[in-house]
Amino acid sequence: MTASSKLFQPIKLGSAQLKHRIVLAPMTRLRATADHVPTDLIREHYEQRATDGGLLITEATLISPFAGGTPLAPGIYTPEQVEGWKPVTDAVHVKGGVIYSQLWHIGRATSSALMPNNVKPVSASAIAIKGANMATGSDHEVPRALELDEIPQVIEEYAVAAKNAIKAGFDGVEIHGANGYLIDQFINSSSNVRTDKYGGSMENRARFALEVVDAVAATIGSEKTAIRFSPFGGFQDMNDDSPYQTWSYILEQLYSKHPNISYVHMVEPRLNLLGEENAETSDSLDPFRGKWQHGVFISAGGYTYAPKLAEDVADATGNLIAFGRSFTSNPDLVERLRNGWPLNKYDRSTLYGGGAQGYTDFPVYAP
Ligand SMILES: Cc1cc2nc3c(=O)[nH]c(=O)nc-3n(C[C@H](O)[C@H](O)[C@H](O)COP(=O)(O)O)c2cc1C
Repeated sequence: MTASSKLFQPIKLGSAQLKHRIVLAPMTRLRATADHVPTDLIREHYEQRATDGGLLITEATLISPFAGGTPLAPGIYTPEQVEGWKPVTDAVHVKGGVIYSQLWHIGRATSSALMPNNVKPVSASAIAIKGANMATGSDHEVPRALELDEIPQVIEEYAVAAKNAIKAGFDGVEIHGANGYLIDQFINSSSNVRTDKYGGSMENRARFALEVVDAVAATIGSEKTAIRFSPFGGFQDMNDDSPYQTWSYILEQLYSKHPNISYVHMVEPRLNLLGEENAETSDSLDPFRGKWQHGVFISAGGYTYAPKLAEDVADATGNLIAFGRSFTSNPDLVERLRNGWPLNKYDRSTLYGGGAQGYTDFPVYAP
């Protein structure tokens, strides 16, 4: 890694000015309270990873009581949750950092056993994820397809959550459109067989995502609005008949309606979250990068195993590079990369849930 890489050059992002291009990827760590309120430990975690002019994206954050069913994930729909985020955003700002909240609706990737009042999870269509739900140990439940007249209400929940995020001091929001959650369930042909205007054609499957962006941008401004996608992520049974066409169409629509959203964030096809090395693939984000050359594009996925690749991609494309797992175990990741210092290996056993161990106790580099 060389300090002259584009990774260490400034770039404007929304209304913020970044001083480097290394980003904390959104990562669910399940350490909020039972009421989904962020704690002081969560404040410490983000504060440790904040840098002057560096972007942090929070873990996926529930937009409403019915968006979730994930114990100990944070939310942003009650006044207590908004208050709980304020010390986090303040601490990041004191260090000169920039922080976006990732807005999350889980859709079918939960269980009625975990939902408020045991309501059935919702999705684009009544199609279950194949196999067992890790959280409950039983087979994934068949969700209920959202009724056409319920969809505006869900879109409104994203807008209200975005407004709350700004109240809590966030610099912007990243709409979670990736990894098999509700928005992705609408986009992919494998999980959406609706016959109304939100299903069937690619244009119809993209409609929900685009309307969420419309609603959030209308509420907090395009320059504070961002979105994440994973066109090649097979996680949670995501599969699209024509990923290049589908996500190209989405980016074209975003460009025509909201050219100045703060960024588009995409997950690399090589990502292999469960393994210890990157997957072989001939797929590429390049066609999507090509569609977003006027704006900021963040690439994530697999840089944990190949930090040199981060430099190569940043230099070739100008992209910001988001690190996930290696940022969990290296609070000073930016300085380590800038100086070529060695990285601590991440600890899989403490990624989800628990206390300070594996969360805020990784040391900074000491020569
Ligand atoms: C513990 C853990 C939790 C994650 N939670 C989220 C999440 O809440 N939202 C999201 O969009 N991606 C999530 N991801 C994916 C990461 O944002 C990122 O794309 C992935 O870790 C690849 O980067 P890496 O190879 O540097 O780890 C998570 C990944 C990990 C390891």
